[in-house]
Amino acid sequence: MQTPTPHIGAKLGEIAKTVLMPGDPLRAKFIADNFLEDVFQFNSIRNMFGYTGTYKGKRVSVMGGGMGMPSIGIYSYELFNFYNVDNIIRIGTAGSMNENVKVRDVVIALGASTNSNYAAQYCLPGTFAPIASYELVSAAVKAAKEKNINTVVGNILSSDTFYCADKTATEKWRSMGILAVEMEAAALYMNAAQARKNALCLLTISDSLLTGESLSAEERQLSFTDMMEIALEIAK
Ligand code: HPA
Repeated sequence: MQTPTPHIGAKLGEIAKTVLMPGDPLRAKFIADNFLEDVFQFNSIRNMFGYTGTYKGKRVSVMGGGMGMPSIGIYSYELFNFYNVDNIIRIGTAGSMNENVKVRDVVIALGASTNSNYAAQYCLPGTFAPIASYELVSAAVKAAKEKNINTVVGNILSSDTFYCADKTATEKWRSMGILAVEMEAAALYMNAAQARKNALCLLTISDSLLTGESLSAEERQLSFTDMMEIALEIAK
């Protein structure tokens, strides 16, 4: 595939080896504006803003990934396969499904279970287990400890639905030890596996499906900043 691609307007070489990927493109702009130096904007197609800059002298990119597996599936595929990106770190929010995972905690998604049919494209003779890069997971655990940020490491759910008709689904996933639900990690992990690249999903808990508790906009920003600093620290 030639670059630019249908969805990313960058030329080859304009994107760093590591890309931080929040769902919301305005979060990407926020990170570029407040945490990166020497910033260059490489994408504005569909307002899915992407930037390359430096953090403590390291070259790093940040780009929105959108909501849901099809969206992050497109962007992460193009970044890994057409822009020679080696590492994608999703930074997002999730709803807690576990009594030990509180709002403002940071979840490190070791595995991403899913109700999506995304894996069907690989025609595997069984069920694939989408997992994070061990190297990125261990670096994130270490960086969080150094910053005194409370993390929980484990299995999450990447759901195709935010509004689920089956009201018994949460309890079933919870019974298998799922920590939290979001909508993107499994596609990112599968694309990384197929491209033989590295992926990680860090999540701040914005709400609890068990207690109904949710973060205010201000608290959301604070915990987002914690998570983003872990991601920037481990970018290489
Ligand atoms: N469901 C799916 N994705 C989410 C949620 C949720 O409850 N909270 C934040 N992202």
